[in-house]
Amino acid sequence: MTADHDIRDVQLAEGGRYRIDWARNEMPVLSAIHERFSREKPLAGLRIAACLHVTTETANLMRALQAGGAEVVLCASNPLSTQDDVAASLVMHDEIPVYAIKGEDNDTYYAHIQSALALRPHITMDDGADLVGTIHQDRQELIAEIMGGTEETTTGVIRLRAMAEDGALQFPVIAVNDSHTKFLFDNRYGTGQSTMDGIIRATNILIAGRCVVVAGYGWCSRGIASRARGLGAEVVITEVDPLRALEAVMDGYRVLPMKEAACQGDLFITATGNHSVLDGEHFSRMKSGAIICNSGHFNVEINLPALEALADGPPQRVRPFVDAYPMKDGRVLYLLGEGRLINLAAAEGHPASVMDMSFANQALSAEYLSQYAAELSTEVHTIPTAIDREIATLKLYAMGVRLDELTERQEAYMNQWQEGT
Ligand code: ADE
Repeated sequence: MTADHDIRDVQLAEGGRYRIDWARNEMPVLSAIHERFSREKPLAGLRIAACLHVTTETANLMRALQAGGAEVVLCASNPLSTQDDVAASLVMHDEIPVYAIKGEDNDTYYAHIQSALALRPHITMDDGADLVGTIHQDRQELIAEIMGGTEETTTGVIRLRAMAEDGALQFPVIAVNDSHTKFLFDNRYGTGQSTMDGIIRATNILIAGRCVVVAGYGWCSRGIASRARGLGAEVVITEVDPLRALEAVMDGYRVLPMKEAACQGDLFITATGNHSVLDGEHFSRMKSGAIICNSGHFNVEINLPALEALADGPPQRVRPFVDAYPMKDGRVLYLLGEGRLINLAAAEGHPASVMDMSFANQALSAEYLSQYAAELSTEVHTIPTAIDREIATLKLYAMGVRLDELTERQEAYMNQWQEGT
């Protein structure tokens, strides 16, 4: 039976299935959870609505939740990140309802969220908090049945903590992002590699020898900076936080205010989670030919109205995901992926091997909510450290990496205070 859907084309399903299986081979931890879920059915009777990037990795998460006994539905967490073949395969081969079309407009994006909410979820799974935001703003009647939610990304966690501070949040949410097995790997290595992948697929430029300006020095931006440097770029960091700026300096980067970096950069990448990080005053100073893109969750980091106001007419699409903005003073600036997250717009997002740990956290958070939601306050929680460490242990095992164990002498030494010099 074909599940309910609003997707690009069901005919794409076959290709999607091959790619989903390919990703599964790189996701041993999630696969082990899938197998255990199939046997134990810890999610039996639960309805889960997920608003995530519709990728091959997400498809494997959806399959694991379904194997655990949950009824699941999926909508996109960004208008430009959906892989249409994956959406088709989930609908046609896994009977999972999907509402997501790559390139959908904002109205369709929110209509798709409403379609997913028709499931009346017990658990919400978000990447950016749009599901939780929509429920709290327009679908409050659903809250009575919701036991809790999970949140994948830094931006979503910041938004949810703001809701909790305001007293607005009405059910507990687990910040998957804050697990060590998530942010230390997905944010750093995943974003680092997939951002450069998106830029290179969109432009085919040589990175070596270019001046790359990375806005921010959080986990995502430091991943991007390190990969750009590895490809031979001269990397400049901009920051507002003194500790992060100091780390960037000691990691060997030049740190400059964006106003000064603006006239030096060949390629600008934002990953701060904040608004108008690249603004009119920066576009005015950029060299002709400068390339601008964003890898943060929302498309607010590049002030597009300011860019349009400086432009001499509408942009010209010169390659897929590359828009040339002719400036009134004769310069040309290139915007990638309409200012949306370039790693998912022009490439395929983080590689499966890193999403393995992120989505193991998602699956185990859903199981944790199914057991303990009633005991959790209506705040943002982190997953217990024991689960985080279990995921790291399983990943190491899958990678064939073995550890030492503390001897009894060492164990005792670490737990005493008398012995000194
Ligand atoms: N976020 C970043 N990369 C992703 C991927 N491959 N799948 C789902 N969400 C992602």
